[in-house]
This record gives sequence, C-alpha cells and structure tokens, in this order.
Amino acid sequence: MRPLPAGTLTPLLLAAALALAGCGADEPDERELDATAQRGEELVAVHGCIGCHSADGSDRTGPTFLGQWGTERELDDGRVVVFDAEHVAEVLADPSSRSRADYGARMPAFPDLPAEEVEAITAYLEALGDGG
Ligand code: HEC
Repeated sequence: MRPLPAGTLTPLLLAAALALAGCGADEPDERELDATAQRGEELVAVHGCIGCHSADGSDRTGPTFLGQWGTERELDDGRVVVFDAEHVAEVLADPSSRSRADYGARMPAFPDLPAEEVEAITAYLEALGDGG
C-alpha cells in the first residue's frame, strides 16, 4: 500500500477533531447550569431570543450570547459598557438606550418581563460567559 503523502493526514485528523469538538459546543445540556440558569435557558427559548441570539458563538440577527459576560462593547452613542446584569436589564427594558455600534439590526423591547425572568435569563447569560 502506498503511503499517503506527508501532510495529508494532519488536516484530516484536525478536521475530525474540530468536528467532534463542535458537537458538544451547541449541546446546552452538557453545560453546568444551576437551576436558575436552566430556567433562563428555557426562557430564552420561550421568548424567542434564541431566534436572534445563538448560544454557540455563531452570529444571527443579533450577537451570540456565548462568552459575552464581562466583555466591553461600544454603543451607537459612543459609550463603552460592560455586558453585566445592568446591561441585560437595560437592553431588555429599552434596547434603543443601549444599541451596539456594530449591529445594523435593532433589538425588540421586552419591557414586561417579570424581574424573576430577567434574573433567570441573566444567570444563564452569565453561565455562558466562560465560553461554555
Ligand atoms: C428580532 C431579533 C431579536 C430578538 C427576538 C431578541 N434580540 Fe436581543 N438583540 C438583537 C439585536 C439585533 C441586538 C444588537 C443590536 C442592538 O444592540 O440593538 C440585540 C442585543 C441584545 C443584547 C445586548 C448584546 C450585547 O452584546 O451587548 C442582549 C443582552 C439581548 N439582545 C438579549 C435578548 C434577550 C434576552 C432576548 C429575549 C427575551 C432577545 N435579546 C431577543 C436582536 C434580537
């Protein structure tokens, strides 16, 4: 049997490894979520957030939720804010007050979410902050 030319196998192995790693990445159930964060994960599905925001790092209409917690973003009014509980609460209540400079699309407002739901969603987004 003719040996494969050097360099053929490495990219193949790499691709296989990446495919395997990718499998787990968007399986929310494999994450360590406490009860509150789990409720937040459900709410993000129930309220349709996940239609615009992925939890796996991919871009949709809105930015991904993965790995955002604690990071800075520039707003269209020039301010730089941190993605924290205050940011999440403000965006949900009045997204136009905290619109990201780098997104053309607008976020719909959710001003009537009960505080308990905002808290659970926030716990979930915090849990996604370590990159999953
Ligand atoms: C129709 C699409 C859409 C839906 C539904 C939606 N969002 Fe958004 N969201 C966006 C867009 C677009 C942005 C970024 C533009 C902006 O900042 O206005 C955004 C921004 C955000 C931000 C700030 C992101 C950042 O990186 O600073 C948070 C937090 C957020 N959304 C949470 C939610 C939650 C929670 C829900 C569900 C209750 C939700 N969104 C539903 C489109 C959406």
